[in-house]
Amino acid sequence: MTINRNILTLDEFTIQQMRMFPNATGELSTLLRDIGLAAKRVNVEVNKAGLVDILGDAGSINVQGEDVKKLDVFANNQFIGVLKHGISCAGIGSEEMDDFVIFDDEISNNSKYVVVFDPLDGSSNIDVNVSIGTIFGVFRRVSKIGTPCTKDDFLQAGINQVAAGYVIYGSSTMLVYATRRGVNGFTLDPSIGEFSLSHPNIKCPESGKYYSVNHGNFFQYPENVRKYINQCQRKTESEGGPYSQRYIGSMVADLHRNLIKGGIFMYPETFDKPGGKLRLLYEASPFAFILEVAGGKATNGLERILNIKPNGLHERTPLFIGSKNMMDELETYLRS
Ligand code: AHG
Ligand code: MN
Ligand code: MN
Repeated sequence: MTINRNILTLDEFTIQQMRMFPNATGELSTLLRDIGLAAKRVNVEVNKAGLVDILGDAGSINVQGEDVKKLDVFANNQFIGVLKHGISCAGIGSEEMDDFVIFDDEISNNSKYVVVFDPLDGSSNIDVNVSIGTIFGVFRRVSKIGTPCTKDDFLQAGINQVAAGYVIYGSSTMLVYATRRGVNGFTLDPSIGEFSLSHPNIKCPESGKYYSVNHGNFFQYPENVRKYINQCQRKTESEGGPYSQRYIGSMVADLHRNLIKGGIFMYPETFDKPGGKLRLLYEASPFAFILEVAGGKATNGLERILNIKPNGLHERTPLFIGSKNMMDELETYLRS
């Protein structure tokens, strides 16, 4: 068997990228390796979820008022544990935790970065063997290096992220991350336990055929959103339509598909949830960063997601995100 040495592992790739910057300290590469390690640990549990006692509810409700699943807790602990042990992270903010966590030891206080994450996205799909994921964003601290991190380090607009990414635990497990230089995807090779570069320099097609939205909420959406959805269904063949509706209910899986194939994903405000459902810091901002680097767009309907500075760690937002041309068309409806 010949070994294809053209395929770089995640570590090899990030070190190569780092060498292009003579002043780089390597902290970001180390951080990404740590995230990869946590993802591999979560992946092992996800793969055997049906066999071990990890399905179902942990019996508590999170800060968002939602049922916490056992795998949410497990994934949260893995990411915190790995990042705390590492040398690149001063603290974390997690969708599953009320407040941010300051690591507050000498090495962590001297780290440049803080990480925000949704440890387990698509919780309602855990029990039924449907793709789930992890979402993360990395911010450079605004507080002084050498001191414990502060809340201001977390309450930053998405545009300040130095990297953002996601892991999809799907038919294969992938880690996709973006820096300002580009978006790259790595597939976990289970035979060697390494993420290997399988999708270099991902670009989101400018147009696509998919629209992703929870149709069950249709009559709760604002009228201009309903009009746009109708328009997706009415498109003629010459207009590239009709679009196909695809909605998994794990935004990682829905957005992964739309990033690769082209498409639009919407979680608008509803009468019940006037602020939207998705979290700005843990879900919308990281994905807005990834999609924009890949050539797409993301808005809350009025404003570019990446320009919004959160007022609180768990602030929610309506989200419209996807291929550039589809977003341009949607925005003509949202403005009307
Ligand atoms: P989480 O599992 O982290 O709470 O996130 C679930 C989110 C998102 O992944 C998905 O797109 C959306 O909730 C689905 O919500 P609906 O069931 O209301 O459509
Ligand atoms: Mn989520
Ligand atoms: Mn979650």
